Amino acid sequence: MAGKNTQVLMKQHPKGAVTEQDFEIVQRDIPKPGPDQVLVRNVYLSLDPYMRGRMDAVRSYAAHLNPGDMMGGGTVGLVIESNVEKLPVGTYVNGMLGWQEYAVAKANELRVLDPKVAPVSTALGVLGMPGCTAHYGLMSIGEPKAGETVVVSAASGAVGSVVGQIAKIKGCRVVGIAGGKDKCDYVVNELGFDACIDYKAGDMQAAFKAATPNRVDVYFENVGGDIMEMVFGRLNAFSRVAICGLISGYDGKPQAFTGMRHILVNRAKVQGFIISEHMGYWPGAIGEMAGWIKAGKLKYREDIAEGLTSAPKAFLGLLTGKNFGKQLVRVSPETL
Ligand SMILES: NC(=O)c1ccc[n+]([C@@H]2O[C@H](COP(=O)([O-])OP(=O)(O)OC[C@H]3O[C@@H](n4cnc5c(N)ncnc54)[C@H](OP(=O)(O)O)[C@@H]3O)[C@@H](O)[C@H]2O)c1
Repeated sequence: MAGKNTQVLMKQHPKGAVTEQDFEIVQRDIPKPGPDQVLVRNVYLSLDPYMRGRMDAVRSYAAHLNPGDMMGGGTVGLVIESNVEKLPVGTYVNGMLGWQEYAVAKANELRVLDPKVAPVSTALGVLGMPGCTAHYGLMSIGEPKAGETVVVSAASGAVGSVVGQIAKIKGCRVVGIAGGKDKCDYVVNELGFDACIDYKAGDMQAAFKAATPNRVDVYFENVGGDIMEMVFGRLNAFSRVAICGLISGYDGKPQAFTGMRHILVNRAKVQGFIISEHMGYWPGAIGEMAGWIKAGKLKYREDIAEGLTSAPKAFLGLLTGKNFGKQLVRVSPETL
């Protein structure tokens, strides 16, 4: 196919907080699919907090980017040229095709999506990586039991919103923590959490204590920092903590943690996890969550930025809580 492929690169490692100047937008030729390959036009790009970690030249669970590398990321797209019989033109696919408009890929790098199951954008949110993260972390590490108190931070977000709703399905008391009245109202009134603490509203400690009269049995950690310190101070004996993310420290400001004593005296289990190491878990979790969506028990919200070139700004917004729901970028129209 003739024409140009817009891509977003990491221009340089951020010095402290990431800025739009750390990215560069370039035009390259649209790649040609070889034998056993398809050409995909990306429709949605997922923006995720983990991408910030990839921008720093430090050791982590995955390799970091180098200046000039394209930003990586999950996408949903349409096959527009095909040399693969089982992936005809018009097939919706999910893959890790990055911050670009077009990409070539092999069948084993793509998950075929059925738009009849749910809108295809959900493959990047509730029926994709964030949803599976929520399901796995809560059920496999948190092990919630009916009647227990489950707390989740970043409660209105892609992961947190699913954690709280599953915990409600399992019969728990669910307390969210989120930034701002609108997000807290949504979490309680739309998603059915029992309470939500607005950590920006003033006396977070007193509000949290009042919302957790039986203390905390399961904590699903998404943010770290002061919020994590506070919740660890209310853990119950034999509580379980899933360390999913520490977003308050990602953008150039790592956080100290002083709560080890609470783990000891409460004999708490604290476990970190990376969802991409549990791929075998995904199909069952996605199937169950698709059923809950159909039954009206699991709701989701998306925040869609328009156009690939808006991705850097939207990404900065994700790291500062400007997103309200799963942050996506619409790269191109959803139909052929
Ligand atoms: N371990 C894994 O495999 C895995 C997989 C996916 C995601 N994660 C982690 O899960 C967490 C949530 O990810 P997501 O994709 O669902 O994002 P998200 O919650 O949709 O969006 C990020 C949210 O983080 C909150 N936030 C940002 N800065 C904050 C700060 N300084 N203090 C407190 N909250 C802050 C904001 O919500 P408020 O406005 O409410 O503050 C923001 O909306 C992240 O830490 C991410 O790294 C981990």
